[in-house]
Amino acid sequence: MNEETKLSILLRIALATAFTCIAVKWMVDQLDPTKEKKKKAKQQAQALMTKLRIKTNLQLTEYELAIASNLVDPESIPVSWNDVAGLDSVVQELHDTLILPIKNKKQFPSQLLQPPKGILLHGPPGCGKTMVAKATAKEAGMRFINLDASTLTDKWYGESQKLATAVFSLAVKIQPCIIFIDEIDSLLRSRNSKDHEATAMVKALFMLHWDGLTTDNTKNGVVVLGATNRPQDVDHAILRRMPASFYIGLPGTEQRRQIAQTILKNERLAADVDLEELARLTEGFSGSDIRELCRTAAVYGMRDSLKSTTNDTHVEEWITMGNFVQAHGKLRESKVSCET
Ligand SMILES: Nc1ncnc2c1ncn2[C@@H]1O[C@H](COP(=O)(O)OP(=O)(O)O)[C@@H](O)[C@H]1O
Ligand SMILES: [Mg+2]
Repeated sequence: MNEETKLSILLRIALATAFTCIAVKWMVDQLDPTKEKKKKAKQQAQALMTKLRIKTNLQLTEYELAIASNLVDPESIPVSWNDVAGLDSVVQELHDTLILPIKNKKQFPSQLLQPPKGILLHGPPGCGKTMVAKATAKEAGMRFINLDASTLTDKWYGESQKLATAVFSLAVKIQPCIIFIDEIDSLLRSRNSKDHEATAMVKALFMLHWDGLTTDNTKNGVVVLGATNRPQDVDHAILRRMPASFYIGLPGTEQRRQIAQTILKNERLAADVDLEELARLTEGFSGSDIRELCRTAAVYGMRDSLKSTTNDTHVEEWITMGNFVQAHGKLRESKVSCET
């Protein structure tokens, strides 16, 4: 066999090998059931990064991009602190502990003035925890990763761990940044022997990177904000990492009046609507119950006013005290039947 033939055979083998490699990679890609999910997350993340004016020359890994799809544009958050009623002291304290130090970091370069690395909002459901967290993100002007637990629970074990690491590495790259974990008990619940090895690993990694925020000065613009109705179910080691905790409990009478006033601020109320009376009626109601009561009363009001007016009459005000009382009766009934 002459040199030329040998060379040509070698070339063919090399070409065939390269082709096989490409074909196998293509097949593996096609077989990856998460391919579409990853592609969508990547596109979503890139669009968001542009919108948030995050430098696109930041080198992000595939996993960081997957987490970036959980980024929230603060400007698009529909609630602000003005919509949160009756929680003035919590809002004030959150502002002082979290926002002030970050905003005035250059003027007050003190170790003591750094925001805590973890903040927990806890208390019964429907009292405004999620709302407060979102409003905080809006007011803080910080980047906000609304970490959805399902993003981490990738069915390909090993990936979850890389994603848990990516949460923190992404936050550091785009700091100042809040990592918000709503219902933190479902993601980081007390460890037990029945935990799958991968779940335990995700928790361990989470804590490791979290601790890294405290020990490394280049990472001090990252804060983890958690919310839960069930703090007793959250792993103790996690609770210890959230030294600042705020209890958001059921509203008292005056708070209920303020909540109703805020929810109804743009509604056309009849002159007989008495918010003080409404606050007394709604003893034991959460903020979200009050919202539901107002919604039901508005529906009753609309129904009544449609009965008594013709279509083209302009209705000035249509929600009456009677509508609230009627809505209260209905809600009380459904609350009692849920509780029993
Ligand atoms: N303090 C409050 N002020 C105004 N609205 C409230 C308040 N608390 C609850 N709400 C209403 O109830 C809804 C649910 O509250 P949410 O923040 O989801 O409660 P939680 O996270 O504590 O379960 C809110 O979107 C809002 O409409
Ligand atoms: Mg909530």
